[in-house]
Amino acid sequence: MTSSLTIPAIGFGTFDRRDNAGIDAITYALELGYRHLDTAQSYETEGECGEALRRSGLERADVFLTTKISAANSVAGKLVQSLEQSAENLGVDAIDLTLIHWPVTPAGRLDMPGYLTELAEAQARGLTRLIGVSNFTIADLEEAKTILGPGVLANHQFERHPYLQNQKLVNYCLQNGIAVTCYLPLARGRCAGDPVIEQIAARHAVTPHQIALAYSLNQGLIVIPTSSKHERIKENFEAASIVLTPDDLAAIAALDRAERQINPAWGPTWDQQPA
Ligand SMILES: NC(=O)c1ccc[n+]([C@@H]2O[C@H](COP(=O)([O-])OP(=O)(O)OC[C@H]3O[C@@H](n4cnc5c(N)ncnc54)[C@H](OP(=O)(O)O)[C@@H]3O)[C@@H](O)[C@H]2O)c1
Repeated sequence: MTSSLTIPAIGFGTFDRRDNAGIDAITYALELGYRHLDTAQSYETEGECGEALRRSGLERADVFLTTKISAANSVAGKLVQSLEQSAENLGVDAIDLTLIHWPVTPAGRLDMPGYLTELAEAQARGLTRLIGVSNFTIADLEEAKTILGPGVLANHQFERHPYLQNQKLVNYCLQNGIAVTCYLPLARGRCAGDPVIEQIAARHAVTPHQIALAYSLNQGLIVIPTSSKHERIKENFEAASIVLTPDDLAAIAALDRAERQINPAWGPTWDQQPA
């Protein structure tokens, strides 16, 4: 079952935030006010998140922690044990949100009833407060609903930015009570130089990267940008206060060109194909 636990709208992504430089960036993000960290078993940054949380001096309850189960552990008989290890890496008793990272691997589709049933068991045991998925298609989400029942998945994390808006998938999630988390919300910095975004940014006296984040935030979606640089970590966090006009939103909506950056050859048949 989902719960009333709220996922903070702006989280700090931790892919590549490893070692001391990673701990420094994550600790700085927490000092600035980020209250949501996004990690994954495969990023090998759970330890860095745990260390930053300790260094920040914040209470455990003040920071929302998301992790993702790797493909190797999205297997019945392995998942719970791997999540216990994740909690230990993070230095916490329970994770706030646990996602299945991918429904497919280079070797083919994973056994959805097997991993989802065990993920629900982890939730029932109190090892994770909320459960969700990542990189699922609408067909995958329908299959998951058949396995778990409606209203059990709390979150879906997928690629979304001005150049890949995935609106059909966003709409499906919102209609089914599934919160949306946008990964690559900055399109990895590619919005700089876009004449439409630059013009809107100039009018709001902010940067094009902040406009990219504000676009999804203004639609009630969660974003998890990351940076190795303090000034950009701050810049991204400050995007949360930008209010775009309906004209701004319409102009950015028109920039969608299905430009997917995370697109492995073995990936799913996505709902939004390149134009
Ligand atoms: N579920 C999944 O399968 C999945 C897949 C990919 C990512 N994710 C999650 O999503 C998070 C974000 O994804 P991402 O890091 O790939 O993409 P991103 O947040 O869109 O972009 C990060 C890149 O943009 C640069 N950047 C950050 N802030 C900037 C700014 N204000 N101005 C200019 N450039 C800026 C960073 O470089 P510098 O470090 O040099 O600033 C970095 O190269 C990851 O950390 C991870 O937690 C999840």
